[in-house]
Amino acid sequence: MTLKEQIDKTKMPRHVAIIMDGNGRWAKKNGLARMFGHREGVSTVHRITEAAAELGIRYLTLYAFSTENWNRPQQEVDALMQLLVDTIAKETDTLMRNNIQLLTIGDLDRLPLSAKAKFEQCMQQTARNTGLKLVIALSYSARWELIRAAQRMAQEVKDGKLRVEDIDEASVAAHLTTADMPDPDLLIRTSGELRISNFLLWQLAYAELYFTDCLWPDFTVDHFYQALIDYQNRERRFGKTSEQVSAV
Ligand code: IPE
Ligand code: IPE
Ligand code: MG
Repeated sequence: MTLKEQIDKTKMPRHVAIIMDGNGRWAKKNGLARMFGHREGVSTVHRITEAAAELGIRYLTLYAFSTENWNRPQQEVDALMQLLVDTIAKETDTLMRNNIQLLTIGDLDRLPLSAKAKFEQCMQQTARNTGLKLVIALSYSARWELIRAAQRMAQEVKDGKLRVEDIDEASVAAHLTTADMPDPDLLIRTSGELRISNFLLWQLAYAELYFTDCLWPDFTVDHFYQALIDYQNRERRFGKTSEQVSAV
């Protein structure tokens, strides 16, 4: 049986989030400049997105650029922004062909105007697609998002639109950038780093975590299937006992 055949279509995660890491190390391993790793990483984005769409996964969120990544050497930041613009231009057809809707989360106002405009254009163009929702986290960090939510809620309280006693899980979630999305069921991080790096701290509360040593440019569709199979073999208890969960 192939890996793909081992995937149980009735137990698919609704939302998969991925920390795409290891582009720089992949380049170094191959004696290339870091940007070649990022370029190769785009090919992985293409194949994993198509695989996720084909499997009927509802949401795929990809961590493409963190708030902290602005602190990288300017040359790498500029080249990454250019790569993002080129990729969106090139891949919009793929999104349309696969009925994929593009969404973004993050502080897009920090992007160069041309990059922000390209993303907005692509979001508009794909807005009516009904298949996979591909969420790109761009200039994103969970702490940025939580501060923004706190500020917005405080403002609403001040304006008399929100009562302090009505603040609950649902209202906090509704003020996050992921407001209409289900929480990730599965988080994958490539490259062997065992950390979250300021990604979706609220939303990952009960996600299953999957770490692989594979570098992002080397991450194949089979690696993705393997992560999904691993996820499907876990027992998600959400604080309950194993007996309670298996009784359902
Ligand atoms: C991930 O690869 C891509 C971004 C963070 C933009 P890295 O660039 O972090 O690659 P490593 O971690 O240096 O190998
Ligand atoms: C996390 O990767 C951010 C993205 C994948 C975009 P980093 O490479 O920036 O994370 P750290 O610095 O190793 O934690
Ligand atoms: Mg890294």
